[in-house]
Parts: sequence; C-alpha cells; structure tokens
Amino acid sequence: MKPTDDLKEEHDAVKLMLRILDGICMDIDSGKKVDYGHLENIVEFMKVFVDKCHHTKEEAHLFPAMEKAGISVAVKLIPSLLQEHEEGREHVRKINEAVSGKMDSEALSTIVRNSRDYTQLLIRHIDKEDRYLFPVADARLKPETQENMLESFELVEAEKIGTGKHEEFHRMLRELEKIYVKP
Ligand SMILES: [Fe+2]
Ligand SMILES: [Fe+2]
Repeated sequence: MKPTDDLKEEHDAVKLMLRILDGICMDIDSGKKVDYGHLENIVEFMKVFVDKCHHTKEEAHLFPAMEKAGISVAVKLIPSLLQEHEEGREHVRKINEAVSGKMDSEALSTIVRNSRDYTQLLIRHIDKEDRYLFPVADARLKPETQENMLESFELVEAEKIGTGKHEEFHRMLRELEKIYVKP
C-alpha cells in the first residue's frame, strides 16, 4: 500500500459523506423534518475525519515531502490546495455554528448554502489531488520516503482519531447512506 492509496480511500469516504449531505440538504429544501443527530454526526466527520485526520496527513507529511523533493507540480499546486483546506474549514465553522445554535429557518439556510459550497469546493479539490498530485507523488517520492510516510499516517490516525473511531465513522456513513443516498 502506498500513502496515496490511503488518502484515496479517505477521499472515497469524504465523497460518500458529501452525497449524504446533499440528501440532507434536499430534505431541508423540501421542508422535511431534519434529524439533528445526523447533522451532528456529519459535522463531527468533517471536523475529525476530514480536517484533523486527512488534512493533517497532507499538510504535515505529503505536501512537505513533495516540496522538499523539489517536485515542480507540487510546488505549483500546494499553495492553492492549502488555501482550499482553509476555505473548507470556514464553511465547516459556519455549518457547525448553525447546527449547534437555535435551528431556525436562517440556520437551516446557512447549513444548506455552506454545505453546497463546501461540496463544490471539496469535489474539485479531491479531483485535483487524485489526478495531478498523487500520481506524481507515487512516481517521484523515494520508496523509503513513502514507507515512512505510511507509518506517520498511522500515528496521525491514532493521535487525531483514536483506535476504533475510524471504523465507527465508516459504520455511521453506511447507516446514513441507506437513509439519504438514493440508489
Ligand atoms: Fe487536500
Ligand atoms: Fe485530500
């Protein structure tokens, strides 16, 4: 397994979360009662799985290693990728604030607006990493650098998410997929 395989697996989980979020937003739009617990689960996934775990693996390990190796595609792409992580955090902050406060119609429209912007942003971002960054990392980073990076990823998971929590997130996604994602 390569470090980018681990990151791509996480991208798949993120994309599933975004499809669930889209289903929740469609329910809000059509005036259906919202299950706040489900929204809280999704916000926790955005904060812990996406930001603390996935973005830390990229920001603290993959990006610096590629910059250090002087890979020109990476040097060109990384500033915009970091900027997109920041924009994503800002959307999550607003969604979190709306979910934790009084759920009036203003809060619901804040959730829908920011969820849709966040989704658009992340889909483009993930596509950019999958297509342009990861193949170059596979080809250009030394095998021992890639091996060490996988070990660092395991540490990030243990520190930022904790044992068992990763599987719990995947279980939660599978449950919510049945409710919100139309086959
Ligand atoms: Fe990223
Ligand atoms: Fe990523």
